[in-house]
Amino acid sequence: MRRAIIGAGNVGSSLAEAAAKAGHNVTLSAAHPAHAVEVAGKAGATPAASNAEAVEGADVLVLAVPHAAVAEVAGELGSALAGKVVVDVTNPLDAAYTDLVTEGVSAAEVLQREITGSSVVKAFNTVFAARYANPTENGSPLDAFLAGDDAAAKATVADLASSIGFRPIDAGGLRMARSLEELALLNITLNARNGWPWQSAWKLAGPTQAG
Ligand SMILES: NC(=O)c1ccc[n+]([C@@H]2O[C@H](COP(=O)([O-])OP(=O)(O)OC[C@H]3O[C@@H](n4cnc5c(N)ncnc54)[C@H](OP(=O)(O)O)[C@@H]3O)[C@@H](O)[C@H]2O)c1
Repeated sequence: MRRAIIGAGNVGSSLAEAAAKAGHNVTLSAAHPAHAVEVAGKAGATPAASNAEAVEGADVLVLAVPHAAVAEVAGELGSALAGKVVVDVTNPLDAAYTDLVTEGVSAAEVLQREITGSSVVKAFNTVFAARYANPTENGSPLDAFLAGDDAAAKATVADLASSIGFRPIDAGGLRMARSLEELALLNITLNARNGWPWQSAWKLAGPTQAG
């Protein structure tokens, strides 16, 4: 099955490369089709001339665009999203990256209300794109937290995450995307405030295997 990635920036390019390396058939689109061609060539993915072309025949679609572009992309794709798993990587950051623009609800929940025929899974948003190529620390996989209301969709995204080297962790229903978006903001704030090199990633310590 094909994986479509909408957006060829930091996240889209890194995820496309990691997924292609793991053997997935990846199609990539961007706002500027020439950018998709350039990035797809380096990543081992197939460029698409439009978002609609990228999602055609794909079972999983990753939204790797700025939060401000999500509603436009969802509206543009419309019924082409029906029945698909939509992975929401976005973080609804303000212009200064110091706060979220959402209040009392996650961007992922808002998206799910807009595309009721699809299953939204929040994933990968807590990990800096630079870590996607080799998501390990001291030989141990980084944690990929997944939130979503459709168990089968979440399992599909868990398979994608583990295929590229993450340890997928079921974080609960889509309501938990609020926590995952805050977790991403915390990591961003920690790096900005402390002058860290934007490589830190979440890895739970202690017994985290079901007993
Ligand atoms: N950077 C990170 O480490 C990181 C980590 C986790 C989550 N995130 C989140 O992931 C999202 C993407 O971040 P990023 O750093 O990858 O951003 P970015 O480098 O600015 O890339 C954004 C991409 O979105 C594309 N795009 C914009 N509008 C589009 C449209 N209407 N249709 C198709 N493509 C469109 C752009 O196309 P063009 O290239 O043609 O301009 C660009 O390739 C953001 O919501 C961010 O908060 C980022």
